[in-house]
This record gives sequence, structure tokens and C-alpha cells, in this order.
Amino acid sequence: MSRLLPGARTDVLVIGGGVIGLAVAWRAARRGPGNVIVVDPGHGRGAAGVAAGMLAPVTELQYGEEPLLRLGMASNRRYADFAAELTEASGGLDTGYRRCGTIAVAQDSDDREELRELHAFHQRLGLDSTWLTGREARRLEPMLAPAVRGGLHVADDHQVDPRRLLTALYAACERANVLLHRAEAVELLVEGGRAVGARLSTGETVTAGQVVLAAGPHSHRLPGLPEGVLPAIRPVKGQILRLRVPDAYRPFLSRNVRAVVRGQHLYIVPRENGELVIGATTEEQGYGTTVTAGGVYELLRDAHELIPGITELPLAETSAGLRPGSPDNAPLLGPTALPGLVAATGHYRNGVLLTPVTADLVSEYLATGEVPELARPFTPLRFSPDRSTTKASA
Ligand code: GLY
Repeated sequence: MSRLLPGARTDVLVIGGGVIGLAVAWRAARRGPGNVIVVDPGHGRGAAGVAAGMLAPVTELQYGEEPLLRLGMASNRRYADFAAELTEASGGLDTGYRRCGTIAVAQDSDDREELRELHAFHQRLGLDSTWLTGREARRLEPMLAPAVRGGLHVADDHQVDPRRLLTALYAACERANVLLHRAEAVELLVEGGRAVGARLSTGETVTAGQVVLAAGPHSHRLPGLPEGVLPAIRPVKGQILRLRVPDAYRPFLSRNVRAVVRGQHLYIVPRENGELVIGATTEEQGYGTTVTAGGVYELLRDAHELIPGITELPLAETSAGLRPGSPDNAPLLGPTALPGLVAATGHYRNGVLLTPVTADLVSEYLATGEVPELARPFTPLRFSPDRSTTKASA
């Protein structure tokens, strides 16, 4: 971790060193303009260090979220190249990107009707989604419970290992001469109606040509941020479990499995190294990340209904993270109403999926001052009274 020189100045200052901040910094350093500094009190300690890493634009799709689907599909299509470039740029670190597909299954006739409607919705949108009988689902995944009544096979919803992704991004940033500084931004500096840098918890200040706010659910709480520039971002807690599949039981599952159980999204993500991730609760109770007995119980109970064999597996880890939820659950990308301040936050359930496209779109905006077409529905200006969407704060 580097130190800053007194009166440090940079072209781009990124506030927040999670997957989004690091990916934007890496891409911005490669593309220009100039120098990039990332400040975070504990790089990589945010939601991505907890997340399962399902890349699921289709099976995470909610009705009415078609613009988000387009963004998610664009990011999913970029993932293979992004992961390969990152492996090269990081000196050979693997991200755990795996093209495994996903099945979404139904346990009873009500669930099955809902999945049928979802399948019809997928078909109307031209998405690759195939209906499975219960028997066909079990043929693909023999560990599924006999009670599974049907499902959808979505061949293009894949996975990445977010912890490996973070490690690779961190190394790629260092190799691209991004300065990763362990400090908290405690105040946004604004001069003449423009963001010009930040004051840090270390007492240092950094001045910058452009400031990127990528601090997840803390983004809107940065002191000095003028009112109305960013909407409030909700912290939405997700508890998650990591189990370990012994060699003798492999392959336990070959693809991601998901279902809606008692109204909660449940997913099980099997990694090639034997880790099996079960997630996640959805709780809106502030900024706490305590793992509760109730959260672990519900995840295990619901996962056991889908895959009875999971109770045989060692439980390796429990953890919880905070998803950053914007008012419409879509990300905030690009210029804000404050010149010099650029947003890359509010990714809610899709931060890991949207990392490549966010890095590309935000770094393009930083370099050109133009909001790329794909980012236009997602600028924070949609929450501002003046809704102009291009060149707003270059
Ligand atoms: N993308 C899954 C989750 O947020 O739980």
C-alpha cells in the first residue's frame, strides 16, 4: 500500500476500492487520462468479498427491468474477455470465471406456475431459456430433491469467484501504476461549484481533475457532497454460507441452482475448487453485517429442501455484506449534477455482474466527457430536477 506525497494531485481520484472502484481505476489507468489514485480504508472489504459471484442477468431479471437486462447482458458478454485481460494484466491470476449455466427450479405447483410465466417473459424478450420437467432438471443435476417439479435452464448465466476477481484487480491496478491508498475519504472537496478532490482520514488531501464515487452504500453519506447530487443508497444486507464439497462427493453440482423459496431468492453456486456458496438473505435494517442464527437457519433450511445432500457437507464460513440499493435498484453510472464528480455505485444485486461494463462505460466517460449510449438510462441525473444526460459534468 502506497503513501501519498504532501499536496498530492491526480487526474482521477476513485473513492472506494471494491470491485467497481478497482475495475474503473484499472480501466481508467490503461485508457487515460493520466494518473489514478484509489482511496479505501480496506480495499476489497465490501460486498464483493462476500458475494457468490453468480453472473445472472436472465435469472436475476425482474419484471419491468428491461433496461437493466440490456446492461447486464452487455456485461455478461464482456466477461470472458474482461477476465482473460485481467489475468494477463495481473501477471497470471485466475478470476474463477466459469461458463457453467444456471437452472432455476420450482418446488410446488405455485412455484411452477410462476416459473412458467417467467419463461414466457424470457421468450417474449428472446432470451435463451429452456423449460425443464422435474425429471429433466434432475437429469442435469442429480442432487436435486425428488420434490422439484420443473425448472428453467438458462445456458448463459455463469459465475466468477469475486474474491479472486478482487485479488486480480488489485494486482492489475498495481501493475498499471494505480496508487492504492489505505485511507478513508472523510470529506469531498468542492470549489467554485466543482468537485476537486477529497480530504482523507490520514489528514492528507488529494486534489483531482475528476472524482469517481464508488463507495457502495456509503456513497451518498460522504461529507461535503452537496444535497441532491446523489439519491440515498440503501444498504441491503445479504447473509451467505460457504460449504466445502469433499473430493469424494464431486461433482456435487455442475451449474448454479436457484429458486424462490418462501418468497426469498435462494441460489447455490458450485465452484470448481469444491467451494459451494449458498445465498442470500435480503434484509433492510441499516449498516450492520452481523451473521444471525436465523439467517443461517433459513438459508440451510431452504437449500436443504432443494438439495437434501447439502447437510452432509462441512460448513466452512458464514458472512454478510451490504448491497448498495438505489431508489430504482439500477446503478448510478456517469456524470452527476456536480461538475467533476462521477458516479459508479448503486449496483444493488448486480455489482459483480456489472463490473466489466461499469469499468468500460465510466472510463470512457472519464476519457471523453461523453456519456456512452448504454450508460444513458443510468446516470444519476435521472434523480435530479435537470435531467440532461450528456456532457453534464465533464
Ligand atoms: N446477486 C445476488 C444477490 O445479491 O444476492
